[in-house]
Amino acid sequence: MLNQLETLAKTARTELTQLGTGDALDAWHGQYIGRKGELTQMLRRVGELPREERPVFGQRANQLRQELEAAYEQKTQTVKAAEMEQTLAKDALDVTLPGRPVSQGRLHPSTHTLRRIYQIWADMGFQIFRSRDVETDEMNFQLLNFPPHHPAREMQDTFYTTNPDVLLRTHTSPGQIRVMRERYPESIRVILPGMCYRHEQITARSEIQFYQVEGLAVGPGIRFSDLKGTLINFTNRLYGEGRPVRFRASHFPFTEPSAEMDVQCFLCDGQGCRICKYVGWLEILGCGMVHPNVLRNGGYDPTKYSGFAFGMGPERVTMLRHGIEDIRYFWGNDLRFLEQF
Ligand code: PHE
Repeated sequence: MLNQLETLAKTARTELTQLGTGDALDAWHGQYIGRKGELTQMLRRVGELPREERPVFGQRANQLRQELEAAYEQKTQTVKAAEMEQTLAKDALDVTLPGRPVSQGRLHPSTHTLRRIYQIWADMGFQIFRSRDVETDEMNFQLLNFPPHHPAREMQDTFYTTNPDVLLRTHTSPGQIRVMRERYPESIRVILPGMCYRHEQITARSEIQFYQVEGLAVGPGIRFSDLKGTLINFTNRLYGEGRPVRFRASHFPFTEPSAEMDVQCFLCDGQGCRICKYVGWLEILGCGMVHPNVLRNGGYDPTKYSGFAFGMGPERVTMLRHGIEDIRYFWGNDLRFLEQF
């Protein structure tokens, strides 16, 4: 039986050297030295031997078992290391590869300008009043002193809905009537920003939709000098202190008197350049004293109240600020344009 034991150990040892995987090693362990392994079984049969041979056999069997166990441990480690090497090689990660860029959104240039304009007016005590994009002919024209068929309507080609009394607002001025009707008899200091729509040929200078920021102040004793002072204060904040401005007489049906405001071209300082079309001035807004009829339509008695209003185009402000020469870029959604801001 001792010989049998030696042979068994020898076979086990030879087999062990040939194994290459963790699974095979486990199987080998089970077959020889596990609880039901051949060597373990043999050790249990020690009782079949004559009493005097038992110690020698038992000692040898235990010794062999320990040796095999040690050999097994060692082999397991080598195999595991090899397997690890393989996995690493297979799943190798090239940490020198450049990362994927995370593209970050940014504000549209119009949004930038609008926020800047809101901030300045807020600092000057003007609240934002949100009016609506879809208006009635009455609000957009009639109550603003454009009688039906009045030629001034031609200045603002209109998108009508299937109902000819309902249209897309051509300017933010109808909001004036809405604020007045809501706020009467309080004094009013508001700006009314929003999208406007005009049924025009799209060119580098005109789009069919664009923003306007309307302003309205109503109260007792408001004068043209208040209009001038407020707008000069605003332009100083937007374009920098001390930039010269001028007011030119103009006409709008809903203001009387009416004016347009120019700021001295900040590119050429009034010398004349391509941006200001060689006149040295840039037109930035329309304004005027609220027409008595409009005050009345808003519910305010024009003998007790007066007011001023103005309307500016933020796209134009943005174009001048960044030297953008074509208004179509604003709605072109071309990233090459948008990413520059
Ligand atoms: N609503 C005018 C326009 O669209 C601008 C304006 C607003 C003029 C308020 C005077 C007063 O051209």
